[in-house]
Amino acid sequence: MIDQTKLPNQLIYVKFSDYNQVADAIMNLVVRGAPAIGVSGAFGLALAALQSNASTKENLLEDLEKARNILFETRPTAINLAWGLERIMKVASSGDSVEQIKELVINESKKMADQDIEINKAMGKIGSELFDNNDTIMTHCNAGALATVAYGTALGVIRATRESGKNVKVIATETRPVQQGSRLTAFELKHDGFDVSLIPDTAVGYSMANGLVNKVIVGADRIVKTGHVFNKIGTYQIATMAKQHKIPFYVAAPLSTFDMKTNAKDVVIEMRNGSEVTGIGDKKTAPDDIGVINPAFDMTPPELITRIITEKGVLKPPYEESIKKLFEAN
Ligand code: MRU
Repeated sequence: MIDQTKLPNQLIYVKFSDYNQVADAIMNLVVRGAPAIGVSGAFGLALAALQSNASTKENLLEDLEKARNILFETRPTAINLAWGLERIMKVASSGDSVEQIKELVINESKKMADQDIEINKAMGKIGSELFDNNDTIMTHCNAGALATVAYGTALGVIRATRESGKNVKVIATETRPVQQGSRLTAFELKHDGFDVSLIPDTAVGYSMANGLVNKVIVGADRIVKTGHVFNKIGTYQIATMAKQHKIPFYVAAPLSTFDMKTNAKDVVIEMRNGSEVTGIGDKKTAPDDIGVINPAFDMTPPELITRIITEKGVLKPPYEESIKKLFEAN
């Protein structure tokens, strides 16, 4: 995988042969973004299967369960991680022998990687219908190729819009404290030849009030059955500001990001280390021993969301109804 902590200054690929390294990579944001950590978790289990010396099916499943728990504990908010791990565990338990389970697990993780790209492309095509020639689209965090296996969710929609022949500009928010917007989205879009401008998070209101942006699209880490969307910290204030300025606010997410079981109030918001806020990179920007509140995600309520784009179609409010229908049909 690409070591995303080194971007945009260095493009470094890292290789892992131990699932514990994958768990560390997820925890330390070497790889991040909901679909990317879902598939990374699956490959982590594939490594665990390869590493295992078990000679019986039961012992191999025990080794996989231990690895699953370690990978699962890395980050709590993006449901794709639990989804990816569960999918592999299910396939593993269907195998009859050690050799067969190892093969099944490896094949399934490769399949998940391939499917992630296909899903993003399908979602992009469907979502591109909502965008017009000469739109300027604001996006937050990084919901691009770097946050997925390739192509992206929110940025996938932007890519597909351009591929359909429409000319679009992008405004990327910096996304403090870890700067996924400036380090990753700006890097990724510039690399692919998009007209992208970077703004500090504090300039969202200014940009909307001054007509610099006419649509917003973001990804999601978890969408619950009522349509509450959990995404990178700051998403909620952008959605609120978009409503104030009557700017459509879109969310693009695959079905693997939906959590039909948990209630919005029970979703765990990851609280990250205060050092992400008291400095930028290695540079200290706050006094010693200052208290810090550093939630990595927030919740955007359904009334602020214009449409939710999935690989199976576009959802309209009321979301409780449209999400239910989507899951009944798929
Ligand atoms: O903390 P991160 O960088 O993993 O957070 C990522 C986000 O919030 C993304 O917007 C989300 O995962 C959607 S990615 C397609």
